[in-house]
Amino acid sequence: MNSHLIAPSLLSADFANLAKDVEMINQSRADWFHIDVMDGVFVPNISFGFPIIKCIKKYAKKPLDVHLMIIQPERYFEEFKNSGADIITFHYEASNHLHRSIYALKELGIKAGVVLNPHTNIKLLEDVINDVDLILLMSVNPGYGGQKFIENSYNKIAQLKNLIIQKNSNALIEVDGGVTLSNAKKLVETGADILVAGSSVFKSENPVETISRLKSL
Ligand code: DX5
Ligand code: ZN
Repeated sequence: MNSHLIAPSLLSADFANLAKDVEMINQSRADWFHIDVMDGVFVPNISFGFPIIKCIKKYAKKPLDVHLMIIQPERYFEEFKNSGADIITFHYEASNHLHRSIYALKELGIKAGVVLNPHTNIKLLEDVINDVDLILLMSVNPGYGGQKFIENSYNKIAQLKNLIIQKNSNALIEVDGGVTLSNAKKLVETGADILVAGSSVFKSENPVETISRLKSL
């Protein structure tokens, strides 16, 4: 198994030494940078915005996967793209016009993804699964790093994989929250294409080595 992607989440990085952690990811086997934007309204936490993403972009040698945990995300798509986003995912629960927002991202020339909270049913994606580049399944409730993985996420990955096959879609499945060396293999076996990992990478003794182990399950 070696085709899945690893996207370390910078939410668990050392913000006072961000360039150092970005360089660590550049040197590692990671595929993407996962960047968590929180507005304190859609989720009960505030993270960071455009100036920080622009700084990350200056040093990053891999694509920036920007996960928007904000209300009315479409208002800011262009500014996130201009700040360096290569992939933007936004929440199903935060969007009234999902189809329009997906196409707004495509018009900007970047990859478009929809995120589902743990309680949101996979069936709701039936009519957009052929329009998206990826689906991000939250395996914790969004807002914080370091939370416990929700076991029902395996069922959701399997359901989503079935939907993708049934509809002949090219969408990739990304999983975010509580991903560790203990559950990563089962997640990929169940159908995950991209694993996001925050605390399990940054709180480990050797982050480069942890990324390598997540990559070669
Ligand atoms: C949570 C964020 C995640 C977070 C994951 O709302 O979307 O990307 O950084 O952190 P871990 O891997 O520690 O659960
Ligand atoms: Zn995230």
